[in-house]
Amino acid sequence: MYTERVTVVPGLNPFRPTAGAEPPQLVGRAGLLDEFEYGLRIRSGAPGLLTIFTGARGVGKTVMLGEAEDAARRAGWAVISETATRGFLGRIGAAMHPFLEELGSGPAGRRITGVGLGGFSVTTELAPAQQAGWRQLGEELLRLLDAQGTGLAITVDEIHGADRDELAQLAASVQHFIRAGLPVALVFAGLPAAVSDLLDEGVATFLRRADRIDLHPAAIDEVEASYRDTLTVLEHAIAPELLRTAAEVTGGYPFLIQLVGYHLWQVAEATDGPLTAEDVGLAVAAARRRNTRMVIDAALASASPKDLEFLRAMAEDDGSSRTVDIGRRLGDARNTVGNYRARLIDAGLIESTGHGLVDFAIPGLREHLRP
Ligand SMILES: Nc1ncnc2c1ncn2[C@@H]1O[C@H](COP(=O)(O)OP(=O)(O)O)[C@@H](O)[C@H]1O
Ligand SMILES: [Mg+2]
Repeated sequence: MYTERVTVVPGLNPFRPTAGAEPPQLVGRAGLLDEFEYGLRIRSGAPGLLTIFTGARGVGKTVMLGEAEDAARRAGWAVISETATRGFLGRIGAAMHPFLEELGSGPAGRRITGVGLGGFSVTTELAPAQQAGWRQLGEELLRLLDAQGTGLAITVDEIHGADRDELAQLAASVQHFIRAGLPVALVFAGLPAAVSDLLDEGVATFLRRADRIDLHPAAIDEVEASYRDTLTVLEHAIAPELLRTAAEVTGGYPFLIQLVGYHLWQVAEATDGPLTAEDVGLAVAAARRRNTRMVIDAALASASPKDLEFLRAMAEDDGSSRTVDIGRRLGDARNTVGNYRARLIDAGLIESTGHGLVDFAIPGLREHLRP
């Protein structure tokens, strides 16, 4: 169900190496939305209706939110899609109005709340009266949708950057709706460490009950199979061993799957005969360059010189690094190393891979940092 997405035709590059863009095939994500879809049928109180996607940059969180939205629309649900920049709670409230109007309750909605369209135009959390209005509006919309046998799905991307008070308000209202047996779904996406902090801080304890789905790179075999499928429409078939090489280069990372696929397609279009190993090498090099420009540079933009030292010390290892080794290489005290470790995990640059172990969370970062 989540495999074939766009029809692949010759002459039109199907790969989408852009943040949030729907890929031609969703690799390695089979079954992840089953609980959510099951919840859409039950409509109220199902655990899958509260889901949080976490994972490193470029692993496909925004794409999964899009999948959840599509599933909700297919089930006839109203969908509100937001990013957690300041004022998102107010924007969600404003986005409820068109649905209310469509359901024939526009004027009533306005009468009840006293807050018209744009009435939530605040920069951060809502004042008490506005919050009451927000909740009334949501409740009215949910009752109308419930009567139709559907519901409302709200997705919020990048919740690691959310204002804590706004998030707490959203959670409190949604919890209220759930207690009232109303059909609401809430799907979040964010960087893993920051999301863990959010949940631990008790910003909204009820969010701890959410289904947390940590997204990982796909298996190389699946990438290879997907490339084989997608690239069959090319005039000249690509030799199996070259496809394998290309799949391996991606490390299963969704963004690299798109970049490598995109450049392979481009090179294939520009070539008369079947692709050679050199052609594939060119495509891979182009994909790597673009990955550096778009992911690595962006991720390192906020790294301090000391962060970089830590990362370079890690790059000496071929796999996970032991924090004691990093400390030794840097000649630093244990607590300093611990602080930088935590900072870098929060920034989504590295991840914990076991007790006293860390590894890079972004593909190509290790190679980029080596001399
Ligand atoms: N399961 C997947 N299979 C193939 N490509 C994917 C998959 N998920 C995401 N992508 C691609 O990866 C890139 C990053 O996806 P995105 O959802 O923006 O990641 P994130 O939100 O985690 O940073 C996009 O180019 C997207 O098309
Ligand atoms: Mg994203």
